[in-house]
Amino acid sequence: MTFEEAHELIKQTLPEKRYIHTLGVVETAERMAVQYGENVEEARLAAMLHDYAKYFDTEEMRQVVIEEGLDSSLLEYGDELLHAPVGAILLARQYELEETVLSAIRNHTTGEPGMSCLDQILFVADAIEPNRNYPGVDRLRVEAAHSLEGAVVATLRQTIEFLLKKSVRIFPLTIETYNDFVNTP
Ligand SMILES: [Fe+2]
Ligand SMILES: [Fe+2]
Repeated sequence: MTFEEAHELIKQTLPEKRYIHTLGVVETAERMAVQYGENVEEARLAAMLHDYAKYFDTEEMRQVVIEEGLDSSLLEYGDELLHAPVGAILLARQYELEETVLSAIRNHTTGEPGMSCLDQILFVADAIEPNRNYPGVDRLRVEAAHSLEGAVVATLRQTIEFLLKKSVRIFPLTIETYNDFVNTP
């Protein structure tokens, strides 16, 4: 799948606000890929496609989790988590995409221990793209300009603190990712 094909698909699939967010993630992921020596085309493509399933029917997404034998605990946390792994599966069913790109899409919400450089770029770019506006985002932007792994840890901390303040459950994979990256020298 080319970037232009992905762009067309996303323009048709997402509502305007989410499309604008996506363009911000593309721009940010591209800049980070250049800075951290990652494949720029793959970063742009993963960023363009990352929220493909964001507005898909929740029941259908839950069905895909069951059909594909994905981690069933995905069904026990907020439905917000589903669009990343389900999006990667649906895209892989319909289009030819590299596993590296699919992996970045799959991991962009929860993170994953040992995630690749491309995964890390999309994970952070999604949180800091220029349209994001929440307390602490500027600190994440500064961190992302200095250290990719530092920015992954800071983004995970931000996510975990946000969930703690809301008194909602935290998906274990996110905590595992935090522990993994904090332990990385
Ligand atoms: Fe997302
Ligand atoms: Fe996103």
